[in-house]
Amino acid sequence: MPGYPVLPEGLAYGGDYNPEQWPEEVWREDVRLMREAGVNLVTVGVFNWGLIEPREGEYDFSRLDRILDLLHSAGVYADLATPTSSPPTWFRRRHPGSRLVDREGHVLGGGSRHSFCPSSPDYAAASERIVAALAARYAGHPALAMWHVHNEYGWANAHCYCPTSAEAFRAWLRDRYGDVGALNAAWGTTFWGLTYGSFEEVEPPVTAPVGLLTGLQLDFMRFSVDAHIACFRRERETIRRFSDLPVTTNFMIPNCKPMDYWRWAAEVDVVANDHYLDSGRADPHIELAMAADLTRSVAGGRPWMLMEHSTGAVNWQPRNLAKRPGEMRRNTLAHVARGSDSAMFFQWRASRYGAEKFHSAMVPHAGTDSRIWRDVVALGADLGRLAGVRGARVAAEVAVVWDWESYWALEFEWRPSSDLRFRERIEAYYEALWREHVTVDFVHPSADLSPYRLVVAPSSYLLGEEPAKNLHRYVEAGGHLLVSYFSGIVDENDTIHPGPHPGALREVLGVAVEEFHPLREHEAVTLRPSSLTGRIWSERVRLAGARAVHEFADGPDAGHPAVTRHDLGAGTAWYVSTALDAESGLRGLVARVLDHADVSRPRGLPDTLELVRRGDHLFLINHADEPATVTGVTGTGVLDGAAYDGSATVPAGGVVVVRTQAPSP
Ligand code: GLA
Ligand code: GLA
Repeated sequence: MPGYPVLPEGLAYGGDYNPEQWPEEVWREDVRLMREAGVNLVTVGVFNWGLIEPREGEYDFSRLDRILDLLHSAGVYADLATPTSSPPTWFRRRHPGSRLVDREGHVLGGGSRHSFCPSSPDYAAASERIVAALAARYAGHPALAMWHVHNEYGWANAHCYCPTSAEAFRAWLRDRYGDVGALNAAWGTTFWGLTYGSFEEVEPPVTAPVGLLTGLQLDFMRFSVDAHIACFRRERETIRRFSDLPVTTNFMIPNCKPMDYWRWAAEVDVVANDHYLDSGRADPHIELAMAADLTRSVAGGRPWMLMEHSTGAVNWQPRNLAKRPGEMRRNTLAHVARGSDSAMFFQWRASRYGAEKFHSAMVPHAGTDSRIWRDVVALGADLGRLAGVRGARVAAEVAVVWDWESYWALEFEWRPSSDLRFRERIEAYYEALWREHVTVDFVHPSADLSPYRLVVAPSSYLLGEEPAKNLHRYVEAGGHLLVSYFSGIVDENDTIHPGPHPGALREVLGVAVEEFHPLREHEAVTLRPSSLTGRIWSERVRLAGARAVHEFADGPDAGHPAVTRHDLGAGTAWYVSTALDAESGLRGLVARVLDHADVSRPRGLPDTLELVRRGDHLFLINHADEPATVTGVTGTGVLDGAAYDGSATVPAGGVVVVRTQAPSP
């Protein structure tokens, strides 16, 4: 496999380029402006299927030929996309069986993209043909740097419930279970007498009058991931017949819940991600940092590509806020700090037509006499100065457990409280760690945990026996584990582990839970000592080897343990049985556990300063409205050329990157 990097040198800079929306005289201005901004890679052809195959089997590559030649003449590389996320209008009419059907049985319409069934054999045949034609034509084109298969698998058409999908699901189940008895055992179908006599009786989990079998729902989620991966593999293998260039597809970590990206990671030559700032949040850059850390972790620590983000507002949030001065630069450089070797945007030039005309771009409707354009040019210069960071790794001493299957299962209907949300707890712990200036990796619970001093499991509701043993062995061998409530409750079939909760983690945590006591919507409980506040959850914890660190001072479990600690073998396992927040005590608790686990981190910095080390580059990103001074910094300023000797002052809203003497891993 060719692997990373995709360009001969430096970081990749550019975006989605859709010149087909413009007359050719604009193309010439485009490439001139690309050079002015330092753009070296653009994604082309993402939605071109209907343009290059205007009628079934009739190809017209003339426009794409001219575009690729023009890019090459300007020294801009192409990330050539297969256009299969937007089938042509003729395809839909000719192959009605390929239409996407939702959970309620509606056949979804055309006039849009992603409107097809991922299990459709007609879609498979037609997409393979167009990919083969594209790959045969352009494999040797000198503009090409890489292949961009499809667009955002599983975003708009994650699940299809049509008869073809139902049949494919049954075949998948036969393959997984062999005989229907094994399926019945896994799903616990004695419940409500839903025992299946044959695979033919299984239907996808369409809308039902009341609660569906959760094993059925989980397996349909897994099947749907496989259906999309099969589509990707078909295209990748078709491209491989003609080209050895790296092949990827753009993930949506962490905002595409149905796709299990641990499974996807092995399929691509380089992990690529799209991330859009959630501008409605108070501190959206913390969610951005989490997305970048999770993407790097999915990439196994290797450099990854930021394939899409935005220069300013998007068009699909309730209120599409423009980025504030300096925010785009901070966003981009935070992705680079956390392992991206590229900074790509959706899109190069703002559209005049269609659904996305109010989405920002590198060249806005306002043209080049605009703040966005000036920032785009300045960012290109910054990225040029950062070329030396390419390929460097980010080291982390702390890992946070993230499992998509647990995400799905935790949020099925009929849980003890609708306030139990997977990302709610992960983000609370992530924020506390971010504010403590600790860089984290994310891990699947069955991963090798030995590199980490501390492993945090905020929402590990679904935890199989093997991953649970993995956590146990980790603690016994000297690791530190911090677990939040409602973890280790069910196995991989969503079946409750036998005995008191949390069945899979009872031994390692040294506690047994007698009864859950979820709180009312705005109810809070107090912990003592030190008056921490908990929300959402309370439960009756019995000590079974652990000791209480805090107890509930009020609420349904007053006088009983709230936070416990269990020394086991050479390590320690902590358990938190309520929802502490960053402001209400979580930060202090996390700091205490970090100290106990001997996790190194800078002290005394404002908690609005983002600090990340990537190889020998130290990134200091100031999210506050006043300057921040960081001591202990010696080296050369990469962006500003300054010599730092002992301290660095980061301007309000600014970024300083210092190349230090520290060894590059
Ligand atoms: C109803 C049903 C029971 C059970 C309970 C749960 O009463 O008859 O089968 O589902 O609700 O509260
Ligand atoms: C996604 C898609 C792009 C565009 C952007 C808009 O990332 O891949 O085609 O629709 O969203 O934010």
